[in-house]
Amino acid sequence: MSKCGVVGAGYVGLATAVTLTHLGHEVTVAEVNPERLATLRDGRSPILEAGLEERIAQGVADQLLRFVSDSREAATEADFVFLCVQTPMGASGRADLSYLEQAAEEIGSVLAQDAIVITKSTVPVGSSRVVERVIRREDVKVVSSPEFLQEGSAVHDSLHPTRIVLGCDDQAAVAKVATLLEPLGAPMIVTNPASAETIKYAANSFLAMKISFANSVAAVCEGIGANVDDVMLGIGYDPRIGVAFLRPGPGFGGSCLPKDLGAIKASSEDAGYKFELLDAVERVNEQQLERIVNKIARHARPLNGSTVAVWGLTFKARTADLRDSPAIEIARRLRERNARVVAYDPTVAQSGPELEGIDVVTDPYAATEGASALAVLTEWDEFRWLDFEKVASLMKHAAIVDARNLLDAAPLRKLGFEYEGLGR
Ligand code: UDX
Repeated sequence: MSKCGVVGAGYVGLATAVTLTHLGHEVTVAEVNPERLATLRDGRSPILEAGLEERIAQGVADQLLRFVSDSREAATEADFVFLCVQTPMGASGRADLSYLEQAAEEIGSVLAQDAIVITKSTVPVGSSRVVERVIRREDVKVVSSPEFLQEGSAVHDSLHPTRIVLGCDDQAAVAKVATLLEPLGAPMIVTNPASAETIKYAANSFLAMKISFANSVAAVCEGIGANVDDVMLGIGYDPRIGVAFLRPGPGFGGSCLPKDLGAIKASSEDAGYKFELLDAVERVNEQQLERIVNKIARHARPLNGSTVAVWGLTFKARTADLRDSPAIEIARRLRERNARVVAYDPTVAQSGPELEGIDVVTDPYAATEGASALAVLTEWDEFRWLDFEKVASLMKHAAIVDARNLLDAAPLRKLGFEYEGLGR
């Protein structure tokens, strides 16, 4: 059994912590936010993530998991310290490393002899060196090991990683981390820190590129009478392409893809290369929002002064995360064009500051009352099983813009709906 410290109790930190306790290690998690800390100490999860709360409770019950406010306390005596703090978008798209540097500064003097620090936060090339410099300890080695988990399946992804990347020039340190994580049974890629850091950004920009590609093909399909769902399936079975991440939608959002795209573009520029392919990926993502607003406007007839019902506010289903959500941006643009927006999302109980101007209701039918169009913006499965006859009777004008291709068009058309998806 090893002693592990985790700094930062967000998606990455908590998933890492419960994975380590699952492997039988003793874990101390440091979290600065007092509310979040209190929730965790209560044995509850501060984020909606399948299986997380149960595993937190299990870890606490097994006396393997505890939560503290001070990163120093988490780091003292630990054999391994995982840095899982946020790296938000800073000036001109570059990642802001101040939280990471602060964490490294705090733990530097209290780390045990020969401790290993593992950076899991998404960081630009050179950040491992920055952490090393801030820690200022000859005996302490820093390993860059980016996290690839997806929100909504964070615990599962962390317990069953597709691969483990270890970036460090010190082979003895790599061997120790490899031994710690080997029971997860994932392929390991051992490389230098710059490559490890690049892998994370390259992976996320590639995923973003797939989504913009799917959205572009969907637009073409609309013009030529093809069905994008079939086209994506048809290309996805080619193992060189792969079926995942080819679902058209309102564009990619969330706390990672848009931010990481900005960061890799900035890093490329610093390296003297203009990554124009990613400029196009971003442009397509931006255009997608407007394409969907225009579809809604066409059906609301006119948008100005109408009510639009919105189903789904989170950036994707199975999460309560609203950060950089395309649904919110679409709602904002509808408001700008003088529509009233009434929204329902299974995880959103009330209007917060990020939802200003949007009327949030806690019942999907209530959202549709008197609406001239219904926009499905997040792919919550439960939307598929609602009573659409009732929806039609509540709406002023029965029209659905399905920005996730979630619903079955034929039965809706039979009920008298105007139905429009993406590329079908
Ligand atoms: C992403 C990466 O997938 C993950 O590996 C990394 O560790 C963190 O960033 P996440 O932010 O949880 O994970 O979201 P993801 O599932 O990747 O979805 C990102 C956005 O793309 C969402 O807005 C989603 O709706 C959209 N998306 C995804 C599509 O529009 N179509 C798809 O086919 C897949």
